[in-house]
Amino acid sequence: MPVIISMPNQKGGVGKTTLALHLAWRCQELGLKTLTVDLDPQGNFSESMVGIEVLDEIEVEDAALFARLQENGQALEGDICRRSYHLFSDILPAPLAPYPTHLPNLDILPANINDDPLSAMNQQSTGTAMNPARHLATIADQYDVVVIDVPPGKGTVHLGGVIAANKVVLPVMMSAFPMRGIAGMLTTLKQLKEQGVRTDLLGVVVNIYSSRSKEHVEGVQLLKERLGSLLLNNKIGYRASLDTAVGAMKPVWKVGTGAARETAKQVRGVVDEIIAKAGFETYLAAERQAKVTVNTKPAKPKAAKPKAKKKKPATTTKEVKS
Ligand SMILES: Nc1ncnc2c1ncn2[C@@H]1O[C@H](COP(=O)(O)OP(=O)(O)OP(=O)(O)O)[C@@H](O)[C@H]1O
Ligand SMILES: [Mg+2]
Repeated sequence: MPVIISMPNQKGGVGKTTLALHLAWRCQELGLKTLTVDLDPQGNFSESMVGIEVLDEIEVEDAALFARLQENGQALEGDICRRSYHLFSDILPAPLAPYPTHLPNLDILPANINDDPLSAMNQQSTGTAMNPARHLATIADQYDVVVIDVPPGKGTVHLGGVIAANKVVLPVMMSAFPMRGIAGMLTTLKQLKEQGVRTDLLGVVVNIYSSRSKEHVEGVQLLKERLGSLLLNNKIGYRASLDTAVGAMKPVWKVGTGAARETAKQVRGVVDEIIAKAGFETYLAAERQAKVTVNTKPAKPKAAKPKAKKKKPATTTKEVKS
């Protein structure tokens, strides 16, 4: 079974999608076979992964599947389920087939922008929230890691994204009472554990942190006292270049501006810490080793400059004369 990571927080706008995208991009870069699942009906994660045109194509394909299901009561041979809302069906109408993104080893079960069928799953009973874990298990073994983007709130879709994960990372923004920001999630995890759901808290990550704010510094101190090693050492400050990167459909370390370089350091710090805690330290070590090897490669000996041919002294009129 792969590591299946969700980044939930019942609060909106704390950086769930931004962090999930960067975690997935980094896993792909390290050579981990990565599946991403967008369970947020806003579809922002999918848009940054594959772009609107691809999402439109997938919608057309899915509408054709829906029409066949209406007409025949069942799918035809060769039909597939590409969109994430299918994960909430009691019985999948066709096999799951994640969309392969333009990057190798990175697939997605996307949501569409304003994904109505996915939103509608919130009207279903909470029992439906068990289905994504069950259906993902049919394809999960093809991957090393699965990253799930979950919507805010407490609905069935949010819950489905948490139950399907075996590790969760909670992004939190600093406030006067930082524990309040994650208390709801910690209670949900505790209740799920009592019901036999094996979803462990991998860590809590502080987003939009300022070391100049007394409130933030004290907040982090409080979180450290309460959470111990579950609080990630790396934090992310207010970094506008994150928005630029996500809008440009690439990780911030590929943006290349001066501001993005500092952001990249912080975001990489966070996602690498998550990757190491998730048990993939060897991939990070292999990358470090490869960099050392490249940097210590003996310099190519410079090719000896061909000796300049001695020029024949030009015969000048003067010389002829002398
Ligand atoms: N560290 C940061 N610095 C500056 N802006 C940030 C940072 N983290 C996230 N943002 C911005 O904040 C906004 C919300 O981020 P994001 O969409 O990742 O949050 P979310 O928790 O997924 O929101 P939602 O609950 O709506 O799904 C985005 O515009 C994003 O670019
Ligand atoms: Mg989001």
